[in-house]
Amino acid sequence: MKAILTGGAGFIGSHIADDLIGKGAKVLVIDDLSSGDINNLSKSVEFLNLNIADQKLPKILKDFKANVLIHCAAQASVAQSINMPAFDAEVNILNGLQIIDYAVNADVKSYIYLNTGGALYGEPNYLPCDEQHPIKPISPYGLSKWTLENYFDLLLPSSTKFTSLRLANVYGPRQDPEGEAGVVAIFSRRMLDDKDVKIFGDGEQSRDFVYVQDVASAVLATIDTEAQGHINIGSGEQTSVNQIFKQLSTEISYTKKPLYEPERQGDVRHIYLNATKAEEDLNWIASINLQEGLKRTVDALR
Ligand SMILES: NC(=O)c1ccc[n+]([C@@H]2O[C@H](COP(=O)([O-])OP(=O)(O)OC[C@H]3O[C@@H](n4cnc5c(N)ncnc54)[C@H](O)[C@@H]3O)[C@@H](O)[C@H]2O)c1
Repeated sequence: MKAILTGGAGFIGSHIADDLIGKGAKVLVIDDLSSGDINNLSKSVEFLNLNIADQKLPKILKDFKANVLIHCAAQASVAQSINMPAFDAEVNILNGLQIIDYAVNADVKSYIYLNTGGALYGEPNYLPCDEQHPIKPISPYGLSKWTLENYFDLLLPSSTKFTSLRLANVYGPRQDPEGEAGVVAIFSRRMLDDKDVKIFGDGEQSRDFVYVQDVASAVLATIDTEAQGHINIGSGEQTSVNQIFKQLSTEISYTKKPLYEPERQGDVRHIYLNATKAEEDLNWIASINLQEGLKRTVDALR
């Protein structure tokens, strides 16, 4: 099997690359390292340090003859999308459109898109959100990610297979602890360094935390099945930011209290996903519980 993996030097993409290599696939990673890290990459992948819209790619993709395109590259920060909505749209929509075009012209038959589930449904009408929940993103990031999902649906020839995985809040090793998103990585790093930890809002906002290895397994399961369409990938559990703080404090023996700051624009109050469709269509369920996942993340950061 041959896979093109955009954004493969990033947090989630690099775990997908490892699993693909483990399965004996040939993997071509395209990543401009704008937020990714070359050290995340296995030596067994073929790596191109290029923007996904680069004009050298059409020929390279034709020669590579991939079975599947896994599109992971993105501007993945909600806060950045609010500060720079045009840049967010350029990467998440325009560059995305370019790689879709290149892949279709290279006759790639199967497409997997890593969409957001957490920033897509807006402030939910009901919980957990299933795939039929109305879509009303409250950040440019949610809107740009959803827009590209619509373009995939519209532009791919009917002879191709397309699956959009709508991911909950992903956490685990290799998540950037210096970024402004990814509470688990940020809290863990600061606690290990015995620094203060900031919580935006009252900390009672809740999320669906899914371990990165489970997300990589969902991508592999998607390759292995005929399942198509839009599929939520989450733990199906609701966890508050205060609970994350508490569990990590225990794991790390951190004794400071959190510093509460005003809540941030673009973040919903509560979200968690109904992942029944993933279970039915992909035979996938999240297998690593929060306690175990937090322990593994902290161990990796140590
Ligand atoms: N982390 C989460 O909780 C989460 C949740 C839902 C969806 N997602 C989606 O999963 C995907 C991966 O997210 P992540 O958390 O690993 O982020 P990340 O920032 O670690 O990975 C994104 C990768 O894409 C690369 N990239 C960005 N723009 C590029 C471009 N124009 N050309 C080539 N490479 C480019 C970056 O260098 C980076 O390696 C994204 O599509 C994101 O929207 C992430």
